[in-house]
Formats: sequence, structure tokens, C-alpha cells
Amino acid sequence: MIKLTDLENFILKAAGRKKLNHDEGRIFGLTNETIKKAVVCWMPNGDAIEFAAEIGADAIICHESLFYPYDAPQVVYGEVPKDYLSWSANAKRLNLLVKHDIGVYRIHVNMDRISNCDALVNLLKLGKLVHRDLEKLHYIVEFPPQTLDKLASQIKARLNMKQLWTVGPRDKKVRRAGMIFGGGGLFTNVFWAEEFISMGCDVLVCGESDEYAMEYFKDAGAGAGAIVTSHRLSENPGVEQFANSLSKRFKGHLKLQYFAGALPNQTHE
Ligand SMILES: [Fe+2]
Repeated sequence: MIKLTDLENFILKAAGRKKLNHDEGRIFGLTNETIKKAVVCWMPNGDAIEFAAEIGADAIICHESLFYPYDAPQVVYGEVPKDYLSWSANAKRLNLLVKHDIGVYRIHVNMDRISNCDALVNLLKLGKLVHRDLEKLHYIVEFPPQTLDKLASQIKARLNMKQLWTVGPRDKKVRRAGMIFGGGGLFTNVFWAEEFISMGCDVLVCGESDEYAMEYFKDAGAGAGAIVTSHRLSENPGVEQFANSLSKRFKGHLKLQYFAGALPNQTHE
């Protein structure tokens, strides 16, 4: 068993911070402020909670939000609807957590700093990391000029994906990639893409993106465009690495299991 303060101290030390962010820490339950057995996962969705129940965990340590709208109860845009806990997906998660007496602890940007960004860059092995700013989460990788197509194939293979999206001329040579992790490629976050473009990146390697953002990428910078993967798949390597370091740090005190989960969508061709 560990105390929540032990977990918090571990995170702060590893991330080099003085306090957790507003959306991090205890999100639900964990009223005795301890954890005996935890599942570490990307998002505490229904599958993850059911897995935690199956193995008898009393906590889920996660990277993404438990409830919608993003990032309830601290919504970025507008106000949280007063009935958000009655929304069907939120209610399902809440009921499962209560039924199985499982609490949730979230580590968001600090998990990006501790492991998510480095793990993805190390896994993709695209080239030389020439810029690494853990404050702004700016990672830039350079490699010998190659086509967008070839770079996309390499990323697809390393992430074990069946398909991904690219934006821009497929035969255009690129050599400097801005790494946009997780949901940074969504239309709400195009400022991030613009930061990379102003730093001379000719391709954006994204986690999750949407059509609205891809319209932006298409007109952005020199038009080299972007490669779009997946939010979960771009961050899971780091979530797993975080789980391993947690299990090493609290060996003998905390039982822990990593849960990779699956993408929510299927491909129809
Ligand atoms: Fe994320």
C-alpha cells in the first residue's frame, strides 16, 4: 500500500515540478488516500474500469480525463452543464467505479513530461532529436530528406497501425518534424502546430487530429503538411513506461498492471 502523497511526490520529482496541475491528482474516490493495487492506463473508460474490477484493483492511475465534456469539471470552453454526470458515458463510468469501489487518479501533462514524449520519440526513431523543451512540450526531430509517404510508412509500422492520415503532397521531401503529441493536433490546438511551423518544421507528426485541423495543416507553412496517427497509440508507449517506473519505485508496496486498451473505432473500407 502507498499513500497518495507518495505518488504525488514521485510525480513531482520525476517531472521536476513543485505542484501538480489543476487537472491532476485524485479525481474520484480514494477517500482513505491510499492505493493497494492499481491499473495504469491511458483513459479510464468502461473497458479499463472493468479490467480494474477483474483484477481487484482499488485504483486507476490514468493520463486522460474520466468525464466529458473535456475537461470536466474544469471545462476549457464555456461552462460544464449541470447534468454532465448524467450523460450516458459519464454515468456508465461512474456507476462502474462505485459498483467496484475503484478510485481514479490522473496525471496529465506531467505524464507527458515524465515519459509520454520521450517514449514516442524513442519508439519512432525518426532521426536526431535537435530540440527538446519540456515546458512547452516542443520536440523537433531531424533526418535526411525523405518523402512524406516514406516517413508515414515508417511511423505506421512502428506504431503497428493498419492505416493513418497524411496531409500534403505525398512526394514532397521533408527533413524536420515537429512532434505534436496526444491531442495537440486537434483543431482546438492549432496554435501548437503554428509554433512548430515558426520553428522551421516542414512536417508535423501528430497523435490525434480532426478534419478541421487538417484543413489548417493543408494551408500552413510551406504546405508540407502532417502525419496523423492516434491519441491513444501515440501516448500508450509513455503510459507503459510510466507504469514500469512506478512499479520499480514502489516495488513490494504497490501492485500494478498496465492496461493498453483498444481504439474505439473500426476501419470500414
Ligand atoms: Fe493526451
